[in-house]
Amino acid sequence: MLTHTVEEGPLLNRFRTLWDEIAPIGRDPGSGGYLRFALTEPELRLREWFREQARLRGMPVTTDGNGNLFAWWGDPDAGDAVLTGSHFDSVPHGGAYDGPLGIVSALLAVDELRAAGVAPARPLVVGAFVEEEGGRFGVPCLGSRLLTGQITPDRAGALRDAAGVSFAEALGDRPTGADPALLSRLAAFVELHVEQGRALVDQDAPVAVASAIWPHGRWRFDFTGEGNHAGTTRMADRRDPMLTYAFTVLAANKEARLRDAHATVGRVAVEPNATNAIPSRVTGWLDARAAEPDTLTGLVEAVRTKAAERARRDGTEVTLTEESATPLVAFDGGLADRLAGLLDAPVLPTGAGHDAGVLAAHVPTAMIFVRNPTGVSHSPAESATDADCAAGVTALARVLEELTR
Ligand code: GLV
Ligand code: MN
Ligand code: MN
Repeated sequence: MLTHTVEEGPLLNRFRTLWDEIAPIGRDPGSGGYLRFALTEPELRLREWFREQARLRGMPVTTDGNGNLFAWWGDPDAGDAVLTGSHFDSVPHGGAYDGPLGIVSALLAVDELRAAGVAPARPLVVGAFVEEEGGRFGVPCLGSRLLTGQITPDRAGALRDAAGVSFAEALGDRPTGADPALLSRLAAFVELHVEQGRALVDQDAPVAVASAIWPHGRWRFDFTGEGNHAGTTRMADRRDPMLTYAFTVLAANKEARLRDAHATVGRVAVEPNATNAIPSRVTGWLDARAAEPDTLTGLVEAVRTKAAERARRDGTEVTLTEESATPLVAFDGGLADRLAGLLDAPVLPTGAGHDAGVLAAHVPTAMIFVRNPTGVSHSPAESATDADCAAGVTALARVLEELTR
């Protein structure tokens, strides 16, 4: 349901009203999590909702030809603009807050500033980035990578979802790619996001400011062997890629622990995927992250070596393909310190990726994290209290007032 006015009353109530409008969209009744994949029906409804919210606030919406949406308070051509916002898309059965909280908070921050009679001296833009999670097309932060030229329009446009639909087809056009003119009109980007760990749980602080994002990436392991009958193939005669896959998952876990890094295999595809057939192919996706780039490189190399050794023993083959890589992001230290001082907030690094991490190489960028009492994310258990979300809006509004002065 679309609203037809911008609500008035206490911020807590206004947060709840907006939140309740989007809460049912894309929620899976079974898991309670969200299936809001980029440019699928639920995400398109959220984008429509965004346009309506922008219209109610008299903010014209522009797109960058890559699927990213921008609602402008002020002249889109003026320059020196301050961008805030996040993404609507989710991981499969993800939480409600990862992404949408940053967009809802941005819209409410605009309302806060207007109610306080603040007239920004430069444009304030609310953005909704497309395919941040890579949950549909495999490459995370696809919209921000396109905007900044970190992926070519040809490569991005050709990425396909599980049903074979390309990103270009879903978008309705070939993405247009880097937009240096738009980037040059941005003076700062501030992304508010739910905290995705337990860093704030025991602190008397509803919000924090980000210092850095760990370098991270996604690698696809293709294990191939010989499909055969489960009942008649002697154990000694098998070339079973499931064994090489299983060993590789354990090796990834061990190598990550040895380095204080993170390694996850959260997605797997098996062919032919039959209980009574030895698989012919197993594909597993490794998500690896570490505080330092060399640690990450060493981790992935160690897993690759162990997988190859095991493949020789299993009579299988393994190939490793990098699907995406994000370098270490150190957010603008001066900006982070300024925000932390303004908000009296702690400063934390994170292992989670964000469009802010991609934009940070091009525009002074900061992030505000809102406390998550479960510490859980990419799961229906992700949470934030309304009071902390309202504190997040207040914090964001203060920051935007300061930056648009
Ligand atoms: C995005 O949320 C990621 O860190 O993968
Ligand atoms: Mn996420
Ligand atoms: Mn996110």
